[in-house]
Amino acid sequence: MATFTLPKNSTIQGGKTFKAEPGATNVKAFKIYRWDPDDGANPRTDTFELDLDKCGPMVLDALIKIKNEVDSTLTFRRSCREGICGSCSMNIDGLNTLACLKPIDEVKGDVRINPLPHLPVVKDLVPDLTQLYAQYRSVEPWLKSATPPPPDEERRQSKEERAKMDGMWECILCFCCSTACPSYWWNGDRFLGPAILLAAYRWISDSRDEATGERLDNLEDPFRLYRCHTIMNCTRTCPKGLNPAEAIGKIKQLMVERQG
Ligand code: SF4
Ligand code: SF4
Ligand code: FES
Repeated sequence: MATFTLPKNSTIQGGKTFKAEPGATNVKAFKIYRWDPDDGANPRTDTFELDLDKCGPMVLDALIKIKNEVDSTLTFRRSCREGICGSCSMNIDGLNTLACLKPIDEVKGDVRINPLPHLPVVKDLVPDLTQLYAQYRSVEPWLKSATPPPPDEERRQSKEERAKMDGMWECILCFCCSTACPSYWWNGDRFLGPAILLAAYRWISDSRDEATGERLDNLEDPFRLYRCHTIMNCTRTCPKGLNPAEAIGKIKQLMVERQG
């Protein structure tokens, strides 16, 4: 399987160029990573020139236009087109972000589009998320409580208890953060990475959950938690404005408190 490894200066040469239609005056080039597991060829970068006067404003609009009108084999994930589903995450102009939230006119010059870095590639812009979902499952992202819920109503929280989960429940599991984290690049098989640790802390901070000790035990490991060196790439890249580095810091703080 191909793996796209570097987020910057990564334009691989040798692809095809699809010129804009004659007469187009507002032309932008999109340089897109291509790799097909079935053709036996190396990865390449194809260049697609589009007339922006006939294209929607976001990078995802350009990708959909290319797929519909130029090359139907171009492969990428997308669903909601409004920053909710997390499926259109990719590396655009050297930064991990959501194609549906990235305005084309924010990119100076050609628009370089690559898959999320340091993951195996399934095809073109589609990364293999198997490891990330296995790690997500490993933190058991569901409510664990021995106390039965009150009869005929949900488990209640005060406004203050509910507010403690702000900044975490909004995560859409796009994995822009984990794939921007150097520690995850080098130790992703053992370090859980920022997205999964944010998810772990979402349940640790939930007042209705009664498994905090068990959850912390599960993270008490030189690799699963402690490979975070507070480099902060995760927080800088999150397209939802979340702060996984802070959540990781709070988990570490809880580890210290329970030892003391
Ligand atoms: S703060 Fe931690 S998790 Fe975030 S990018 Fe840095 S090392 Fe990775
Ligand atoms: S914390 Fe942000 S970047 Fe990371 S998975 Fe969640 S929404 Fe995506
Ligand atoms: S298409 Fe759903 S987040 Fe972009």
